Amino acid sequence: MAESEKHFHHGRSSKEILDSNRVLSAVGLKKGDTFLDAGCGDGYISLTASKIVGNEGKIIAVDVWEESINVFKEKIKSENIKNINAEVANITQKIPVDDESIDILYMGNVLHGFIENNEVETVMKEIQRVIKKGGSFAVVEFKKEESTHGPPLHVRITPEDIEEIVKNYGFTLNKVEEVGTYHYATILTKN
Ligand SMILES: C[S@@+](CC[C@H](N)C(=O)[O-])C[C@H]1O[C@@H](n2cnc3c(N)ncnc32)[C@H](O)[C@@H]1O
Repeated sequence: MAESEKHFHHGRSSKEILDSNRVLSAVGLKKGDTFLDAGCGDGYISLTASKIVGNEGKIIAVDVWEESINVFKEKIKSENIKNINAEVANITQKIPVDDESIDILYMGNVLHGFIENNEVETVMKEIQRVIKKGGSFAVVEFKKEESTHGPPLHVRITPEDIEEIVKNYGFTLNKVEEVGTYHYATILTKN
């Protein structure tokens, strides 16, 4: 299928309802880390991550939506940020980084869309490829309960759903933590 014919799951930024510092503290991001923001949207998590990892660290922010990446690139340029590389990429095909090069791969409000579209297998193979041994896959999702924000209840996923999927790709559960009124984070370690 041509790229232009494919249906991509988009959605709004979670910037107004998630505190990026709280999220990244739960995720365990630290100075010097290489962090990949998969399906970064407007990139607000990457901006905070860039300050935490500092000059020795690196942020790779990818999204399939070219317009979001272009706007984000402008922001990076205007704020003279040196440690973020923003790129258009369809992660169901390829994550544009080397094998075992990422300390933390973050996916905020994106995984449920891949499950809905039956795209988990290709995405998870890429995620498994790029994360370092002992590195983390951090998934933030809307709690599976009725709320004013977020996707319909039937497409939301639980921490148990996530664990069930990722165990087939060599990850084990580290922790599940509430990170906002509507959200939880599931942190998984690559074996
Ligand atoms: C609900 S938004 C979440 C954006 C951001 N992570 C946040 O929490 O604000 C989902 C994002 O995933 C991106 N996305 C969907 N399919 C994708 C794919 N195959 N490859 C890369 N990004 C994708 C969308 O373009 C969109 O920006």
